[in-house]
Amino acid sequence: MTLEELETRSYTPYSGQPAAVILESRSGKLYPGVRIENISFPLTISAMQCAVVICTSEGEQPVKVYRRTPPSTDGKTDFWERELDLEYSVEPDFDKELDEIVTSHDDISHCLQRLLGRSHSPYSNFPVSTILETSGGLVSGVNIEFSAWESGLCAERTAIAKAIAGGIDLSSIKALHLHTRHGEYSSPCGACRQVIIEHLPQIPVFIHHSDGSLSRHFSSDLLPYSFKSDFLKKNLQHTKNQ
Ligand code: THU
Repeated sequence: MTLEELETRSYTPYSGQPAAVILESRSGKLYPGVRIENISFPLTISAMQCAVVICTSEGEQPVKVYRRTPPSTDGKTDFWERELDLEYSVEPDFDKELDEIVTSHDDISHCLQRLLGRSHSPYSNFPVSTILETSGGLVSGVNIEFSAWESGLCAERTAIAKAIAGGIDLSSIKALHLHTRHGEYSSPCGACRQVIIEHLPQIPVFIHHSDGSLSRHFSSDLLPYSFKSDFLKKNLQHTKNQ
């Protein structure tokens, strides 16, 4: 896959500015990262954050980033460079097979428990795992934390980012499963609910609580009165036509 092809997986209905990076892990695996915007702009996931959380959630260590253009000088790139000691390579002609991100069907609750071991949560010691059940297999996610807490990502958003960057047709996602080890009652945070309803507005959400009980919800019910605005997309059209 080329970086140009990967860019087409970006979700950028508000800016119209796709972006993609490919991250190589220490063991030589290649992971995709794309920009994933949200109607609430500050919840946008950058291509770098996307690739880093996917790679880390697979238990791999990121070492090198491939990009089409040199990194911007906004300070964010410096953060990843410092935090992960990354090497950058500008390779407009990059074209290699990426690693598979869908795993075969398995027992969901065992899989959720096993996945907790992949969580990188040294600051909270609160591992969370998520599975997106698709017709073609399972897409997993765990929570990832960094020294700058705002640069990490919850398990639910890691799984959604992985599905989008992995080119999964989101309409093939049949359910989202969530599990935590601690806490009497598990529940997705508000930011995850906002991202879930933007991409998966009509799916069942199964919460596998730490006490072994299971509750079933509907994704759009998780965030009543959520922020929606036709203005944002209409405004983009208006700006483009000027
Ligand atoms: N966390 C999730 O992964 N999902 C949620 O919905 C709630 C919070 C993670 C994020 C962070 O790593 C830790 O739990 C504590 O906030």
